[in-house]
Amino acid sequence: MQERARRRIPGGTQLLSKRPEMFAPGQWPGYYSRASGVDVWDLDGNKYVDMSINAAGACVLGYADRNIDSAVRAAIDTGTNSILNSPEEVELADLLCEIHPWAQMVRYARSGGESMTIAVRIARAYTKKDKVAFCGYHGWFDWYLAANLAHGNNLDGHLLPGLDPAGVPRALAGTAFPFRYNHVEDLEGIIKDNRDEVGVVVMEPVRDSYPENEFLKRVSEVAHEIGAVLIFDEVTSAFRMNTGGIHLKLGVTPDIAVFSKALGNGYPIGAVVGKEDVMQAAQSTFISSTNWTEKIGPVAALAMIKKHRRVNAAKHLIAVGTRIQEGWRNAAEEAGLKIAVSEIPPLSHFAFEHEKNQVMITLFTQLMLKKGYLASGKFYSMYAHKFSDVDGYVEAAGNVFRSIADALKKGELEKQLMGPVAHTGFHRLA
Ligand SMILES: Cc1ncc(COP(=O)(O)O)c(C=O)c1O
Repeated sequence: MQERARRRIPGGTQLLSKRPEMFAPGQWPGYYSRASGVDVWDLDGNKYVDMSINAAGACVLGYADRNIDSAVRAAIDTGTNSILNSPEEVELADLLCEIHPWAQMVRYARSGGESMTIAVRIARAYTKKDKVAFCGYHGWFDWYLAANLAHGNNLDGHLLPGLDPAGVPRALAGTAFPFRYNHVEDLEGIIKDNRDEVGVVVMEPVRDSYPENEFLKRVSEVAHEIGAVLIFDEVTSAFRMNTGGIHLKLGVTPDIAVFSKALGNGYPIGAVVGKEDVMQAAQSTFISSTNWTEKIGPVAALAMIKKHRRVNAAKHLIAVGTRIQEGWRNAAEEAGLKIAVSEIPPLSHFAFEHEKNQVMITLFTQLMLKKGYLASGKFYSMYAHKFSDVDGYVEAAGNVFRSIADALKKGELEKQLMGPVAHTGFHRLA
């Protein structure tokens, strides 16, 4: 199927993070026939426990969650689309504004990148200024990739290295400028060089690390001093540490916050949530699309938020992620390997502190597959993960860390790999 896909679908998949090459080329199963809870079955009927990144972070409650699916089935039974609008859009907007009391208005799309692009358009329309200062990864759209027109490596260090801006108009060079997390001086420098032209400041409130030295507060002050709109990209960070945007826990409010991924627990939905005066600028520009009006997205999001809140999903996501991080640390120590562990517990990440990290991570994936786990250097918690899943995984990871340490000692890391080393960023596929 993977060979067939590469012949028919450029790059083989629609999402870089789902390419088998990102895990263990030639070994990662790549396709699934069924997914339920934390279990995934490949096309040959092999069952795996998913201890990797749960649909790139979309299925925060678990695969095929019964509550979400039954709400969606009811939506299907009453017609998912018509020439009239679905009231669930309004109900969801009310709920999102209730959870984020600084916001009054909402627009929808169906993916994270689209929603971010809407947010940036609204911000540019509001400030009437073109230039964007940003930190982090925000999707595949022109406004963002434009950063790599000026310097091909501007986006390196913002989650996905090597993003190629071919096809992005060269005229957009010099419209998007990156700043590093926890480096407010970068943002100040961008603003000094482009003082009257920066209208938008975009960032993920948290990713690899927490804000230090009041970084978010400083960013907000700097943005507002020049009248720019501050957008928090919560596409990945929301619904992990709390029900809603992670910024609610950090005490800094943006002008717009953007949600997707976990919001629909795997059903497509994206929401741009913002302050009324800024959001009204959406009426001064044209933002409109047929499939943004179907009913499943808002229905799934309503069911997801209500369940997330009812069961206090965040508490469990944090507990699971914390146990995984402890498990990695203990396993590494026992095996005599050095690892660095980062990110908030529900979005955990480890890397071997060794020049052959990427080979070692690929071997980790290979050996974990043999034990029935989908696993890599990243772990995203699902509400469906049971502590027994975590314990089983930690034990398996401990054994695998010992095997890797052994292979390292014997100088056999590459020899033990049964395929090529996993890719780390964007690569063209043959
Ligand atoms: C912070 C952030 N913003 C935007 C996106 C893009 O979202 P999507 O893949 O749904 O277009 C992602 C996806 O990984 C993301 O992590």
